[in-house]
Amino acid sequence: MPRHLLNPMDFSVQELEELMDLAVDIQAKPEKYAHACDGKILATCFYEPSTRTRLSFESAMLRLGGQVLGFSSAASSSAAKGESVADTIRVIGSYADICAMRHPKEGAPLVAALHSPIPVINAGDGGHQHPTQTLADILTIRTLKGRLGNLTIGLCGDLKFGRTVHSLINALSRYDNVKFILISPPELRVPGYILEGLKKKNLAYEEYSSLEDAIPQLDILYMTRVQKERFFNEDDYIRMKDFYILNNEKMKLAKEDMLVMHPLPRVNEISVEVDDDPRAVYFQQARYGMFMRMALILTLLEVEV
Ligand code: NCD
Repeated sequence: MPRHLLNPMDFSVQELEELMDLAVDIQAKPEKYAHACDGKILATCFYEPSTRTRLSFESAMLRLGGQVLGFSSAASSSAAKGESVADTIRVIGSYADICAMRHPKEGAPLVAALHSPIPVINAGDGGHQHPTQTLADILTIRTLKGRLGNLTIGLCGDLKFGRTVHSLINALSRYDNVKFILISPPELRVPGYILEGLKKKNLAYEEYSSLEDAIPQLDILYMTRVQKERFFNEDDYIRMKDFYILNNEKMKLAKEDMLVMHPLPRVNEISVEVDDDPRAVYFQQARYGMFMRMALILTLLEVEV
């Protein structure tokens, strides 16, 4: 049976540490890994828009010496003719060695994994999970903060539909002394099932609606975009989209070593003036994502280097 990555919890804390160590080694010694995946093929099956996730997966495989094929929209695949994900993956399984899948429906990559002869990586499923963004996030935090425990992390914006937020909370909930500060408008709170999970584990969290009130205590501020494509009603989106705008004025309230992270794409929630602040690390974060995807491909394909 192939091994899949559908949720960050599919890897133990120890395995995530090993993945990060491997990513660090790949970044330091790229030539050592340049032919590790010679002859292997990655399929990127993207039923939803993407820039970073798809291209960083493709770049990751190409940098490992492998090749890539795939589609970047449902409209250009046979999904447009009504084919099921289960049928599609059975076929892709004979064309490729590993598949990264993004889908607007929660659980679609899980369905694919249940029918797949090759490893399936969830590259984002609806408003549910986005484990490879979490891989980028934890390597960013470990590298720039030196630790994944003893942190107060603020997650701000669309905490209801933001799948990167759900995956990151899952992953960080296993480290010691992590406090979650959840900053959102009341309509976009973290879903109840995730809050229940935090309560069950006795993990500290507080909910805020004001970013200014929350920011002074944070070690990390993880900003997110309001997920327009998940709203049923355009008026609600318009009302909520500029609820939070991080600017230099608000950055003055933050700790001198607070990191500002964002999975990107950014819309208005971080003013471009913040880009020049040394605490803004979102572009570095995207780069770490590529090295983590390289490490993930090697691990799921069980390639020894
Ligand atoms: C995120 C996603 O697709 O969930 N993007 C990404 O992969 N970096 C965040 C978003 O779209 O807002």
